[in-house]
Amino acid sequence: MAKTMVILGSQWGDEGKGKIVDLLTEHVQLVVRFQGGHNAGHTLVIDGMRMVLHLIPSGILHAGVKCILGQGVVISPRALIEEMDLLIAKGIPVMDRLRISSAATLVLPYHVALDKMREQAQGSKAVGTTGRGIGPAYEDKIARRALRMMDLLNLDKFAEKLDEILDYHNFVLTQYYQAPAIAREPILQEAEMARERLAGLMIDVPALLAKSYQNNEKIVFEGAQGALLDIDHGTYPYVTSSNTTAGGVATGSGFGPRFLDEIIGVTKAYCTRVGGGPFPTELKEEIGQHIAKVGQEFGATTGRPRRCGWFDAVALRRSAQLNSLSWLAITKLDVLDELKEIKICTQYQCQGKTWDVPPLDTELLGQCEPVYESWPGWEESTRGIKTWEALPLNAQKYLKRLAEIVEVPIAMVSTGADRKETIMLTKFE
Ligand code: IMP
Repeated sequence: MAKTMVILGSQWGDEGKGKIVDLLTEHVQLVVRFQGGHNAGHTLVIDGMRMVLHLIPSGILHAGVKCILGQGVVISPRALIEEMDLLIAKGIPVMDRLRISSAATLVLPYHVALDKMREQAQGSKAVGTTGRGIGPAYEDKIARRALRMMDLLNLDKFAEKLDEILDYHNFVLTQYYQAPAIAREPILQEAEMARERLAGLMIDVPALLAKSYQNNEKIVFEGAQGALLDIDHGTYPYVTSSNTTAGGVATGSGFGPRFLDEIIGVTKAYCTRVGGGPFPTELKEEIGQHIAKVGQEFGATTGRPRRCGWFDAVALRRSAQLNSLSWLAITKLDVLDELKEIKICTQYQCQGKTWDVPPLDTELLGQCEPVYESWPGWEESTRGIKTWEALPLNAQKYLKRLAEIVEVPIAMVSTGADRKETIMLTKFE
């Protein structure tokens, strides 16, 4: 296996990165998150109990693997401690396996209040955020007023900074949004608890990564959300507030981009999107509902139903370009098993022009009409298939065609939730 690998969502998130990371984690020493916060979510099953993790990578279940939250991650101390406690209760030695950048930005209750008030005020133009305060936390970081993990180490200074920040945000909340002010004391209590629980986990992440790399340790960088939700390259303003694309690995972790070996774009065999924003291949009628039902397309963080549509190769070409994808990992192929006909969007038509990659202008993207290629379905179960040869011929043809249009080879195909339900087309060991 390459020494370093990036695994990220190549569509609008929820591609099933968790399973792919889990599969590859067997061979690595470090799993690193570099952006996003507890807006992400992946489901784990431990001892038959289902739990959803939002911040901690699923690598936490593997002995000998360190899980790192880089400085590009925004961390809600409360959400993180809740997750840690769930895992600790299951006997997972979280304190040995988890490390956090002391430079990571904190998500605090005023961010959540601002997120919710903003969305409410936007009405029909709302982004459809997860309501976790992620956008306002990144705003504070960029505005250079954020409280960070290391501020927890000196609570007197923390309180001073907090007073200034609260002064500002409470003015906006009460005067602009006519909303209640956020109280100071509960935040100070949260900070005290966070210092007690998290101080021992804080490290200099770039230094650790450089040393691990020198020692020939293998590192997986795990993206959250998907490339088309990237703040710079996604369908702005219907995006999340971080760089979800491969470039974000270097800035969000402090690991030099020259040392990134392979980049895997996790891609559903169709498309989904949660929240607002254009989605040219969206299927609003029966087939969309069928995909949603079979694919259990409900958000892991908010439980919201996901919008479903045909595979959008135009969007994926952009993603391949943005991320310099080495490989595709195709997930949820089995969700398409019962369909008679399957479509692939190969181009868009808009304003009398043909588009091979999506227009940068989101309003224009909203007007794009998909041009489809039609493929016969395989109409038999692919659930749990483990070899390429065992796939129905029409499924093989469909997958080959996706790779051909996007010009990225397929490394693996997932045919079910279990890690064994995977077709490996290349070796990662
Ligand atoms: P935020 O990240 O909560 O600010 O939400 C901004 C946009 O990103 C919304 O459309 C969310 O639905 C979307 N989003 C955030 N996290 C995820 C995720 O983990 N999967 C899919 N969409 C997400």
